[in-house]
Amino acid sequence: MFDFKYYTPTKVIFGKNTESKVADLIKEFGGTKVLVHYGGGSVVRSGLLKRVTDTLDAAGINYVVLGGAVPNPHLGLVYEGIELCKKEKVDFLLAVGGGSAIDSAKAIGYGVANEGDVWDYYDYKRQVNGCLPLGVILTIAATGSEMSDSSVITKEEGLVKRGYSSDYGRPRFAIMNPELTMTLPDYQTACGCTDIMMHTMERYFTNGGNMEITDALAEGLLRTVKKNAIILRDDPKNYDARAEVMWAGSLAHNGLTGCGNDGGDWMTHKLEHELGGLYDVAHGAGLAAIWGSWARYVYKNCLPRFKKFAINVMDVKDEGTDEQIALKGIEAMEDFYRSIKMPTNLRELGVNATEEDLVTMAHKCAVGVGGEMGSARILNEQDMLEIFRMSM
Ligand code: NZQ
Ligand code: ZN
Repeated sequence: MFDFKYYTPTKVIFGKNTESKVADLIKEFGGTKVLVHYGGGSVVRSGLLKRVTDTLDAAGINYVVLGGAVPNPHLGLVYEGIELCKKEKVDFLLAVGGGSAIDSAKAIGYGVANEGDVWDYYDYKRQVNGCLPLGVILTIAATGSEMSDSSVITKEEGLVKRGYSSDYGRPRFAIMNPELTMTLPDYQTACGCTDIMMHTMERYFTNGGNMEITDALAEGLLRTVKKNAIILRDDPKNYDARAEVMWAGSLAHNGLTGCGNDGGDWMTHKLEHELGGLYDVAHGAGLAAIWGSWARYVYKNCLPRFKKFAINVMDVKDEGTDEQIALKGIEAMEDFYRSIKMPTNLRELGVNATEEDLVTMAHKCAVGVGGEMGSARILNEQDMLEIFRMSM
């Protein structure tokens, strides 16, 4: 087992009607003037935003509101949020929504707490020295941003989607009421389950570290999400399945399922970020569309773990050669994606990329990772291009 740091400072308040605790939590963490940040309007339509602002009004907490964080959230709105916070002397951020609203809020928090252009952090030019404190009311189980150190922002100019990670960005509290996810379209529920599984799989398919306890947690999480994704496909209002998936989403990306590994692989995410930047696809669907191609390209370099995954997560029988078992595991994962209506290639994702597009994405991806990256197999620009080609 490699040495590791495990830091999860987020206070989690989980269960029915927990959003009613928001004012107490903001006070507990010292907020006196709040920016309430949300996405494209689902929280307005569901009535959640009104309930939240009513609670703040009743508690005498001042706030300003900024909506409009789109999926693959834009830098332009981040700049707007930074200006608003400075003008209104905001000292606490409350994101109400999914990964996009949360990530946009984190970026706003970095921009307020640090001098200069906030994009510098996403462009790997500088490191932050702080962030405005942030609380979250989560409405979709997916990214784990409610407990993670990451934030992913898209710069409109050049359609560059980049992630930045810092412990300063970890939310102070996360309110998680599984009932709030019941208004999700089925497609978004499936995208969320895919993303949750991928956050653990990125950490699982490595070539470093003996991690028996971490593997057991990871495999249990993967089996749980796989099972409950099917339950939600057939019964979207099932509270217990919503709750299992929601808690799994946080555990999949707060670092737990990577303790003791070499940092993980993360190349499926890096390749997807190029798709999200260029074609504005839903993150989870983009991951599903690329994973099978990535897996077939790298599995021979990470055979013991692909075999373990096949047997322990995908219920493949321990028969035949290791390669045969690994390939059956990959096929079973793709069957699972199809069963929840997730794409398994770019065409099914609705992306009709030209060869030139694939070359551009591979180049941007290689630049974004500093040349090469990966753990299951280290990939360079040519490898990335091959995987994009295979995924067509
Ligand atoms: O914008 P609104 O109107 O709220 O609608 C959203 C959006 O259309 C809708 N939605 C969310 N909760 C809902 C709901 N609709 C009905 N009822 C509800 N309860 O669902 C759509 C997707 O929302 P979004 O916030 O974009 O989804 P997600 O949580 O998947 O976030 C995706 C973004 O996070 C990044 C992705 O790349 C993408 O930009 N990621 C962030 C990570 C992190 N910070 O740790 C890690 C991830 O790997 C990921 O890269
Ligand atoms: Zn993800």
